[in-house]
Amino acid sequence: RGGVGPLNIDDVRARARKRSCALPFSYVDSAAEDFATHRANLRAFDEVTLRPDLLTDVRDRDRSITLFGRTLASPVLLAPTGMPGIQHADAEFAGAGAAHAAGTVFTVSMASSHSVTRIAERCPGPLWFQLYPWGNADDFTPYVELAARAGCEALVVTLDTPVGGNREADIRTGFTMPPRLSRANAGEVLRHPVRFGRWIRTLAAGPGIAMGNIAETGVTGGMNAVHQATKFEAKFVPGFSAAELALVRRLWDGPLLVKGITTAEQARRARAAGVDGVIVSNHGGRQLDGLPASLRALPEVAEALDGTGTEILLDGGIRRGTDVLKALALGARAVMIGRPWVWGLAAAGRPGVDTVLRILHTEIERDMALMGVRTLADLGPRHVNVPAAWAY
Ligand code: FNR
Repeated sequence: RGGVGPLNIDDVRARARKRSCALPFSYVDSAAEDFATHRANLRAFDEVTLRPDLLTDVRDRDRSITLFGRTLASPVLLAPTGMPGIQHADAEFAGAGAAHAAGTVFTVSMASSHSVTRIAERCPGPLWFQLYPWGNADDFTPYVELAARAGCEALVVTLDTPVGGNREADIRTGFTMPPRLSRANAGEVLRHPVRFGRWIRTLAAGPGIAMGNIAETGVTGGMNAVHQATKFEAKFVPGFSAAELALVRRLWDGPLLVKGITTAEQARRARAAGVDGVIVSNHGGRQLDGLPASLRALPEVAEALDGTGTEILLDGGIRRGTDVLKALALGARAVMIGRPWVWGLAAAGRPGVDTVLRILHTEIERDMALMGVRTLADLGPRHVNVPAAWAY
């Protein structure tokens, strides 16, 4: 790669990989079972091609969006990711700080390393909070209240994780929380003792494997053992159904989104439950392997919600400015990035996350000019060719 800085998101990933111990790195890269859905997420962006509007004056381009009445300087939001403290001691402070500087949203995972209260104290936001669907009202109500007290502007309920995905990759690398030397990981540790030592120091210097919200709520919300990686199912209580979503709707006054929507039927059900937005997502391919690519699921969700005023976001496989434009053309108001911001964090802490956002924003601005669009709201289905095989 010579002396050139990271040119794109894949370069940031390569830096993170080079610097990191393989155990935490492969946790971020990991996906469920055969990675079919994860690969599909990435490939779908190549299958959709662009149709520019040339002969447009694109001197003044504006990549801002309006979401729930707030203007954001970017259509790229940071997705909730659990326990970034295992990548870098600054964890969410780096992600939320970079998001704030870029004028976009940072979504605090229920399984965050630093508590949402501490993140809000350090980072002016906008912050959203993501809730996992485990247990009953006693498990999740304290988290909804905590998010409200911390000033989070929207609540995201992740529906695709009643139990943990089958991440065989994590088992093979010997990634466990807390870290344990095992037959699976001994080879890696012995080959790269410097990286392993750096990782252990990272864990000691920051929140490590702690989950900040547990101490503040006094309840685990089903998270007491999120990262006994191989024993997910045994610990989660998958009892969250329509009644629980209705209760969350009553508890939360602000914008409510559900994350993990991949079909028109699910989108309609969510709408009927009174949500304000849906996130078309398959959890980055980390939950049910066999789900369609997020981009491929987007058109049917957009059609199902057309005219209802429900906001649509998409995540899964966003690595380029053109990926963002394709998702917006097919009906998303905004997108989220999961792995990319965590790679930036692992590579260089806060400046690494800044770099990820700067790369995407530079690409988006250039791509808008090349596409002949001045504002992101101008984008529509006429700007893309979708494979005929995508009909639903
Ligand atoms: C996640 N994701 C996730 N989602 C969620 O709702 N709550 C969470 O705590 C987490 N944790 C988490 C950790 C890590 C390391 C990753 C990579 C992902 C899923 C995340 O929000 C998002 O849906 C995907 O990451 C999007 O796909 P890309 O951008 O990673 O391809």
